[in-house]
Amino acid sequence: MARITASVYTSHVPAIGAALDTGKAGEPYWQKVFAGYEFSKQWLREQRPDVVFLVYNDHATAFSLEMIPTFAIGCAAQFKPADEGWGPRPVPEVIGHPELAAHVAQSVIQQDFDLTIVNRMDVDHGLTVPLSLMCGQPPAWPCPVIPFAVNVVQYPVPSGRRCLNLGKAIRKAVESFDADLKVQVWGTGGMSHQLQGPRAGLINREFDNAFLDRLIADPEGLAAMPHIDYVREAGSEGIELVMWLIARGAMGDLAGAPPPKVRHRFYHVPASNTAVGHLILEESNQ
Ligand code: DHB
Ligand code: FE
Repeated sequence: MARITASVYTSHVPAIGAALDTGKAGEPYWQKVFAGYEFSKQWLREQRPDVVFLVYNDHATAFSLEMIPTFAIGCAAQFKPADEGWGPRPVPEVIGHPELAAHVAQSVIQQDFDLTIVNRMDVDHGLTVPLSLMCGQPPAWPCPVIPFAVNVVQYPVPSGRRCLNLGKAIRKAVESFDADLKVQVWGTGGMSHQLQGPRAGLINREFDNAFLDRLIADPEGLAAMPHIDYVREAGSEGIELVMWLIARGAMGDLAGAPPPKVRHRFYHVPASNTAVGHLILEESNQ
């Protein structure tokens, strides 16, 4: 049976991808960001997951105001890096896992979550930047990736409670897939940032660190936080953080297993307009 071995949480920022792609990663400003991922890259090489289930948000790239799925699962065999205005990033194509994705879709929809099935989609910085942070600049990504897009761009957005429960349903789905696969679930986006309006540039270190504490130790309590609190405390784009609850919900302790091990935690301000947060939780039985 397939099993979930770990969850990974990380912010995304387009400028992180641009820094890598244009050879600026060694500059002191960016070194402070990438230093937080040195452990993680080594850890990922050692872990060798068979599939990454990558929860992220599209930024009106594949979707638009014309079509706004709340939850969309990528079932294709491959996904191209999107052109977000400067040409596609020079990163590998994402190889999907259509069999596992179709199984998760079947299982999660039968558990009463309405997923949109996506059979063709380009993936933007929301997905490619977390891969770059965790993998560096390889000629191919180390394993297949299932893109799972969440609408946090256009209101109404899903609640924290729904995201946590969706993570639990994804765990059940993975565990009922009849193949011996090690699966990681990644939750991405956040932390505090606001890109527009009078509060543009907002960062809230206290909120971010309390969020990390509660994500580790009190995910059920954290899931009760209403979306307006994300926006008030973490800025209009801080609502991206709600996606981290999907990955957290997929961890075993919420189904009765012992708490996960915190393998790595990192926080740094700023990367562009954003506070970068990063966490690795490993299942206790690993
Ligand atoms: C930035 C952050 C984001 O989450 C995003 O989608 C775009 C830009 C930024 O900080 O520049
Ligand atoms: Fe974003």
